[in-house]
Amino acid sequence: MTIQWFPGHMAKARREVTEKLKLVDIIIELIDARIPYSSRNPMIDEIIQHKPRLVLLNKADMADREATKKWIRHFADKGVRAIAINAQAGEGLKQITAASHEILKEKFDRLKAKGVKPRAIRAMIVGIPNVGKSTLINRLAKRNIAKTGNTPGVTKAQQWIKVGKEMELLDTPGILWPKFEDQVVGKKLAITGAIKDTLLNLHDLALYGLKFLEEKYPDRLQERFKLTALPEDPVELFEHIGRLRGALGGGGLVDYDKVAELVVREIRSEKFGPLTFEWPEEGLAE
Ligand code: G4P
Repeated sequence: MTIQWFPGHMAKARREVTEKLKLVDIIIELIDARIPYSSRNPMIDEIIQHKPRLVLLNKADMADREATKKWIRHFADKGVRAIAINAQAGEGLKQITAASHEILKEKFDRLKAKGVKPRAIRAMIVGIPNVGKSTLINRLAKRNIAKTGNTPGVTKAQQWIKVGKEMELLDTPGILWPKFEDQVVGKKLAITGAIKDTLLNLHDLALYGLKFLEEKYPDRLQERFKLTALPEDPVELFEHIGRLRGALGGGGLVDYDKVAELVVREIRSEKFGPLTFEWPEEGLAE
């Protein structure tokens, strides 16, 4: 689903998160482990202010483990606790409550000292569309919670979901917009499948993917497409892949549309193994 964000949607999304901030002790910010920079809302710090936060690097199963470790260290250096999870398989979820407790320890200790009775931690999940918010909520709730459309403003009665005895989670996540005005970010969102029916040209996207593989994972590219050497010219690469896979059109000529589609599909479906598209040392703008 391609989600069009208009200024009105953005304002409303922001307002909704801001209103719910008052209800919770901690924000659980969900990002995509393959694109930890590009899958964040550009205004997240401003929106959640000084509210304690836990970052979850979701879809860690699809990301390069080495990169994920580096991202966790990177966040730690900035004083932010981050955890790698796989919401789909339910991996790493136990750490969420434990980490939230640690983050909120001081606050809860202060309350206790004032004689306030201990209570469950209240949390809200926020993130851009398709980052896995519903999957995570359903996992934590151990049942299916109806998904609110990816359009902010679709309201329904809000409820708290119990996550064990120690945490309560708002059943509707905060849906925020991605950094869509940046073209490279747009490509990363599209190549990971966060944006599916991309407005981007599929050929451009396939070229972007191939160039990325050539730079970061050349062995995997060579192995999958049985290349003895990496061609300089992308046209040559398209030709090679097309002939290898029989992506041919009329007159037995290579059909570039089919090649582009195949390349994007294979990258998205992990045919090249787990991939991380941005690493902390690249010094992406914060
Ligand atoms: P959202 O609420 O944030 O919009 O995201 P949602 O939970 O709908 O998840 C988006 C897609 O990402 C879903 O795929 C979901 O299964 C997948 N997903 C979520 N968490 C993980 C994870 O940790 N690992 C992997 N590999 N996938 C995850 P979907 O509904 O099947 O979409 P699709 O099959 O149509 O692409």
